[in-house]
Amino acid sequence: MVYDLTMLKAFYANYSEKIERIRTVLQRPLTLAEKILYAHLYDGKEVENYRRGEDYVNFRPDRVAMQDATAQMALLQFMNAGREQVAVPSTVHCDHLIQAYKGAKEDIATATKTNEEVYDFLRDASSRYGIGFWQPGAGIIHQVVLENYAFPGGMMVGTDSHTPNAGGLGMIAIGVGGADAVDVMTGMEWELKMPRLIGVRLTGKLSGWAAPKDVILKLAGILTVKGGTNAIIEYFGPGTECLSATGKATICNMGAEVGATTSLFPYDGRMVTYLKATGREEVAAMADAVAAELRPDEDVVANPEKYYDRIIDIDLSLLEPYINGPFTPDAATPISKFAEKVILNDYPRRMEVGLIGSCTNSSYQDLSRAASLARQVKEKELDVAGALIVNPGSEQIRATAERDGMISAFEEIGATIMANACGPCIGQWKRCTDDAERKNSIVTSFNRNFAKRADGNPNTYAYVASPELTMALTIAGDLCFNPLRDTLVNRKGERVKLSEPVGEELPPRGFASGHEGYVAPSNGKKEIAVAPDSQRLQLLAPFPAWDGKDLSDMPLLLKVQGKCTTDHISMAGPWLRFRGHLENISDNMLMGAVNAFNGETNSVWNRVTNAYGTVSGTAKLYKSEGIPSMVVAEENYGEGSSREHAAMEPRFLNVRVILAKSFARIHETNLKKQGMLALTFADKADYDKIQEHDLLSVIGLKDFAPGRNLEVVLHHEDGTKESFPVQHTYNEQQIRWFRAGSALNAR
Ligand code: F3S
Repeated sequence: MVYDLTMLKAFYANYSEKIERIRTVLQRPLTLAEKILYAHLYDGKEVENYRRGEDYVNFRPDRVAMQDATAQMALLQFMNAGREQVAVPSTVHCDHLIQAYKGAKEDIATATKTNEEVYDFLRDASSRYGIGFWQPGAGIIHQVVLENYAFPGGMMVGTDSHTPNAGGLGMIAIGVGGADAVDVMTGMEWELKMPRLIGVRLTGKLSGWAAPKDVILKLAGILTVKGGTNAIIEYFGPGTECLSATGKATICNMGAEVGATTSLFPYDGRMVTYLKATGREEVAAMADAVAAELRPDEDVVANPEKYYDRIIDIDLSLLEPYINGPFTPDAATPISKFAEKVILNDYPRRMEVGLIGSCTNSSYQDLSRAASLARQVKEKELDVAGALIVNPGSEQIRATAERDGMISAFEEIGATIMANACGPCIGQWKRCTDDAERKNSIVTSFNRNFAKRADGNPNTYAYVASPELTMALTIAGDLCFNPLRDTLVNRKGERVKLSEPVGEELPPRGFASGHEGYVAPSNGKKEIAVAPDSQRLQLLAPFPAWDGKDLSDMPLLLKVQGKCTTDHISMAGPWLRFRGHLENISDNMLMGAVNAFNGETNSVWNRVTNAYGTVSGTAKLYKSEGIPSMVVAEENYGEGSSREHAAMEPRFLNVRVILAKSFARIHETNLKKQGMLALTFADKADYDKIQEHDLLSVIGLKDFAPGRNLEVVLHHEDGTKESFPVQHTYNEQQIRWFRAGSALNAR
């Protein structure tokens, strides 16, 4: 047992009583999200009717999970907090730093060598501070959390944007930056703006080719990549009970793609089955005892429009398989219309590689349904046109899939089985291609498909789909293939049709355990060594405090045009190796963002040299001359992941302000935590006023206060000047962070 049973017993012992008290104070029925949030108010915080989308509230989550790429910065910050032990159960998972190349065994051996210094640091820091440590190859953070730690009614934070995966077991699980994780690990209050609630009512039942993934692919099309910002998506209705716990987790996982704070399913029998199958009978029994409070109240389900801010209906019986992309996960198209879209837009039609697995779709059900299609290749004497890569989500799932013949079914059709790690999902894919200049298409069962995300190649058109659809398209090698309608020609020249995928929800023989990959917290007092000349790790120095003056005459470093995700701001792939070294990773700052003035990436005008240079090189030169700078951007700036490097890098390179049309939630918080100014245009049309050679000032900082606009003044090159108001969402505490230089400085 790796979870903390004592903590869980204490949690469930007074859970019902807490909810009853909340109901009495608020005097109304409660949604599930409200029950869990209010049950986790920080000690002593009074229950009151917090205004959704407006009030900042302090919480005490039950646990913390960190993946290796973000844990480095989180632990480096924790080391500066002066604590002996973490205040809540916490874990580190080594999943991001393993490059997918030759296959699991060789790739883990290579990663262990290449990342030795980082793994040693993470292991030693975990041991030193009482944190559970999952070794490379043990699995992907969210799959491991679902299998071991998630529990109905609980609340956790994780330094990864897909932390909401645990919502599949009825837990509020929120992706955060490392500084937020440090708040929770030090036992301090953790702040969140009370989220709005989007209720998604599921009716009907999935059948045939439709999979849980299709629920969220369809929803992403409805909500778009920013439609869930500052909201919790709470699923309800009879359709929820038709989905396995792991299917629910897939849906919650990808709620990150619409910017949702988290996603959540009500407690049901499918969760009980999963808890028992993963060896947590005691947790299932404790949850069962308070089952009614792990669901929304009856009146909420009967009259949802009274309690949710928005209702969306999805009838599972009518749901078609979807394929979303390219380049953005909300470009949703049902399979019946997809061929038309491919031809109309001249997307590369040949489907070259199918990738299955990742934290999103690694369940027994996912793999068994995909394997049922793989087996048809032999039965129907088909050839497989595309290449296939499989990344199991955990060692437990891999070992079970191997024992039950799924791994061999994949290998028989030519699959490469990669490590139980993120791999191509985070750009850790050493892809072998004949011509990197050729436009090409890949389909994945992952969650994200931003340009360059999987293989670093801008010519790769990536689409996300269910594992079963990914498998069918891989067999066909044709993006226009619709397995519900079309036939394939086999080796005998016959036309054959793929039968609908079938699979088991859970392994009939139970889960196999596989290789041991967990190192329990030892409370050891081992000192943590960080070599001063290390290229991978660097101790953090505090950012300077605000000097009390307005920010004047800052050069415009970059005016970003279009989408700017955290991948554009701090690229992953090869840069992952510098995630523990702020100075080195800052060399990638904003290298993927498009400059609105020349349409190019990583090419900005430098006012000191009067020439174009890289974004980080230009910022570095400004910094060396003591010049602060500013970045301007469009909608949903910082969409995507929780990586706080995307906020720390500009801070480190003396960028003081990001002025955007809007921000993604996690990134906006990360900017605030690092002492940056995250401002938005009061009138979005003012974006057009900013010229390449402008100097910009931010006025009004002496009176910086919640709800009060600041002013931006543009000094144009021709000597003219114009100004406009800008908005912000800083509260008193966040303004203190700004003044202190960072949240860490303000402790
Ligand atoms: Fe890994 Fe899942 Fe993120 S596979 S990269 S944790 S999306």
